[in-house]
Amino acid sequence: KKREDGPSSCCLLKDMKRIPQFDNKLGRLDFSKTHTVLVDVAVFNCGAGLMPQDGRDVWHSDFVKMPYSQSSYMKTGFVMPTNKVRWEVISKQLSSLSKKTTASVNDFEEAIIKYNPKYKGQWSFDALSSFVKAIPKGDNYSPKLFQRIAELALRLPELVKKAVPLLKRGHTAAITLSQTQIACLLANAFFCTYPHRNASGPKAEYHNYPSINFTSLFGTSSPRKKQKLRAIMHYFQEVTAREPTGLVTFERRCLKDTDLPNWGSCNKKMYKLHVASHGTIENEGKGMLQVDFASSWIGGGVLGSGLVQEEILFIINPELIVSRLFTEKLGDKECLIVTGSQQFSNYSGFGDTFQWKGPHEERLNRDEWARLQRQIVAIDALHFRNRSEQYNMIDVTRELNKAYCGFKGHRPDEPDIATGNWGCGAFNGDKQLKAVIQLMAAAQAKRSLAFFTFEDESLKQGLQQTHHLLVTERITVEKLYRLLEDYCATQLALGSGHVDLFEFIRINFSPSRSLL
Ligand code: AR6
Repeated sequence: KKREDGPSSCCLLKDMKRIPQFDNKLGRLDFSKTHTVLVDVAVFNCGAGLMPQDGRDVWHSDFVKMPYSQSSYMKTGFVMPTNKVRWEVISKQLSSLSKKTTASVNDFEEAIIKYNPKYKGQWSFDALSSFVKAIPKGDNYSPKLFQRIAELALRLPELVKKAVPLLKRGHTAAITLSQTQIACLLANAFFCTYPHRNASGPKAEYHNYPSINFTSLFGTSSPRKKQKLRAIMHYFQEVTAREPTGLVTFERRCLKDTDLPNWGSCNKKMYKLHVASHGTIENEGKGMLQVDFASSWIGGGVLGSGLVQEEILFIINPELIVSRLFTEKLGDKECLIVTGSQQFSNYSGFGDTFQWKGPHEERLNRDEWARLQRQIVAIDALHFRNRSEQYNMIDVTRELNKAYCGFKGHRPDEPDIATGNWGCGAFNGDKQLKAVIQLMAAAQAKRSLAFFTFEDESLKQGLQQTHHLLVTERITVEKLYRLLEDYCATQLALGSGHVDLFEFIRINFSPSRSLL
């Protein structure tokens, strides 16, 4: 018998497991070979606050090349060109800008071009100009915001002394840093100070990394850019007015081949599910592991004009953007988990209708490591240019492994997972197939799902009924995997036609199937 909230196999949102309120299991904050901590752990562990960890600059392909590095040079002067340490030029420009009573977009552009002379005439700042010219009423930015961001950027050598490792492909590793260190790193991104990060193309040193200098956010004016800039400027306004007080951890997780489940012989049964057509992952899924429908280039088009789920997430939680500084493109068996980022903005809409809706009041508690109790996992689905491409077991298995990589817990008491139409918007996936894949990955990871269908009522009902059937018939992951093989074969045989997966499951697994 169905209850109002769906079949009895489904559970209520309030019953989902959240990040524990008083978790004393983390122990002391410590660094290790695979966990770099950019604050002094001894000071932190004795409760004396967040002090930058001492260290020295490392100009090496395993670390972020810092703008203040003594190894970063640039040519200056026309008549007698000389090599100058790049930071000398940067700090001269930023200090003189920070001392101005008023700083225009032109001043800002001039400063940036001084240490990025190659891009003179190429980089456009029209989006920033039109934003500054017509700042919406009610947006309360300080008239000295540019100056304040410049001051923050200048603190880089004192705030981030220890070399920041790159989170490279194939290596599970984590970085923990303070929100102030992130703000300072982002202020540098805003001022486009990172060396070697502007070139693109296969020969560029960082061709396998997302962009980090904010140039692309400032050009090609559009209503989208305007809304994004409102959120970003608000972030800088906040972090320059009062220093945020916590830590954030970025962890790249990679599955080894031996960690991969053998999907065709996995006897786990379905886990619990909550499905809702209203609500969003970030609101209703508070306290759970929240899925970022990511690009393999973390953050996707956040610094360009992209404005769907991942970009919105990064715009309202700008600290996530710093992951682009050190996260190499995600491989098929990898994900990035971010713990502790702060939401600074509210929003409404999606894509073209996105609007910045003012400051967000953060009410989350912090864990023992001073991290806000927000955990986000970035998993990138496959991008299907043509929808019919997705019905094959190589791709299905790739998606199972990717979702499993994101969902797999690492300690007892992990929260449940908040997700939805992963890979089914910009990436063109089949909502039913992706939902079933996520159910299987969650079953294997032994975690429940809160699934938000984003106003898709029929998906909600179909998923509830399908899950109910899978639970009551005690269908294992293995059986479902075999069924997907048949399903893909049927789809392939049909060519351009479409078989409804939920229907296919119903026909094959219903107790009454022998009567059909
Ligand atoms: N909560 C729940 N569901 C949502 C939310 C939300 N906040 N926002 C969107 N949806 P999409 P993809 C639903 O297109 O297909 C970016 O550029 C809604 O039904 O963002 O995996 C990335 O950087 C939406 O259609 O994810 C990647 O490059 C669906 O989720 C690429 O897009 C999919 O959202 C990923 O595309």
